[in-house]
Amino acid sequence: MGSPLFATKPIETLMNEAGESGEHCLKRALGPINLVTLGIGAIIGAGIFVITGQAAAQFAGPAIIISFVLAGVACAFAGLCYAEFASLIPIAGSAYTYSYATLGELIAWIIGWDLILEYAFGAATVAVGWSGHLRAFLRDVGWNLPAIPTSSFTLFGLPVQLKYDYVGFLVIMAITAILVIGIKESANFTTAIVILKVAVVCLFIALATRFLSSHDWKPNFWHPFIPANTGVRGEFGWSGILRGAGVVFFAYIGFDAVSTAAQEAKNPKKDMPLGILGSLVICTVLYILVSGLLTHLVPYTQLNVPDPVVVGIRTTGQQWATFLVELGALAGLATVMLVMLLGQSRVFYSMSRDGLLWPWASKIHPRFRTPYISSIVVGVFVAILATLLPLHILDEMTSVGTLLAFALVSAGVWVLRRTHPELNRPFKTPLVPLVPILAIGFSGLLIVSLSYWTQLRLVVWLVIGLVIYFTYGVTHSKVRNAVKPSLSEVRASAPHSTDF
Ligand code: ALA
Repeated sequence: MGSPLFATKPIETLMNEAGESGEHCLKRALGPINLVTLGIGAIIGAGIFVITGQAAAQFAGPAIIISFVLAGVACAFAGLCYAEFASLIPIAGSAYTYSYATLGELIAWIIGWDLILEYAFGAATVAVGWSGHLRAFLRDVGWNLPAIPTSSFTLFGLPVQLKYDYVGFLVIMAITAILVIGIKESANFTTAIVILKVAVVCLFIALATRFLSSHDWKPNFWHPFIPANTGVRGEFGWSGILRGAGVVFFAYIGFDAVSTAAQEAKNPKKDMPLGILGSLVICTVLYILVSGLLTHLVPYTQLNVPDPVVVGIRTTGQQWATFLVELGALAGLATVMLVMLLGQSRVFYSMSRDGLLWPWASKIHPRFRTPYISSIVVGVFVAILATLLPLHILDEMTSVGTLLAFALVSAGVWVLRRTHPELNRPFKTPLVPLVPILAIGFSGLLIVSLSYWTQLRLVVWLVIGLVIYFTYGVTHSKVRNAVKPSLSEVRASAPHSTDF
């Protein structure tokens, strides 16, 4: 690994950056509860409110519950690896930063570029889910929004179908505006929404359980619990369960976003693992309960709708609860978009400060102290994605990108144990290298379970990224040119804590 392509950012530099303080640096204001809340805020979203039903209807049937367990196991292994890194290198930038310190610049670039899939495509997926929920909600109160226009045409001999989801576009632009101005004032508001979101999920679980038990429901895993495969790989049967796991994996994405807040944690060494693993465990339990109950309330064939959880709660006959779940989903999905768009601009910011992206991406607004250009560019890109692309493409692209990042981060934990065994690790991933290997194996399995087109799109996306790296990044990299940002440069360019 002597090539400059594999130059690593010295751990000491990262630790110095992490240890800086002062009025121009990120403020260490987040305690353990805030971090778990942040994680849950990022995790519970379109995955459970939208994708669960669609994945049950198209891939796994009631066995979607097994898909959730499989995806949860993959996340648990990866989460243990993230926790070691986040407590060891508590600095913004997440997987990108960790890999820069361990696997070298080229891999760091690939991860940074790949994280765009997670955060930008993820935010776009949630925007499409939000749009579906808003339309359903307004329809329920008697107000029909104009239909979403669509068009189809042929491009290079391939059929292309586009939709023009103006609601998805508008919601992303609105959240971008909030991020540019800074969201410090709304931090309590965000916490309130997370509580509301968890409350409606618990309400669903409670009402569904009561309804099913009052209807003499027995957990007999009604047949067919695993519908027979249709003859097409991934359509029901065991391959459908695996495909379902790759798709509902989306629902777990977000616990890693806690690590992007490492620089704002009061006691990152102790609290980062708690924030990451705590939010993951809570959400896993909720998901398994919701998916199990939902597919018993409504036949899975009827769940391919924009608002399956709302359809589920409606069958209990409690109109007030339906209304609350609709509102909770709308508010809850909004916080996921916010955290994802924020995470994306943070990764751009870190990459730009390292010289791998253009300087505008780390430019800070003189008044709002936010990386405003980065936020606006990301916002417009995401709004266009949400407007044009269908949910299933966005969802799978998000999952594939995140799974690749998980595999690389897990490899990084293993590499760092070998190259820097002496480092004081406040949280240690257990059973290294077994846990990293399992994280890599499970992530790989879920990547393979996704559609061929998704895998192809991932390759195309990475090739585009490499072209940018070799035409810009290699010549401007600060690590390669051994130009470390000075403390004053770091301070002058660090966004203000209002970002969170
Ligand atoms: N886990 C997040 C969601 O389900 C991305 O919306």
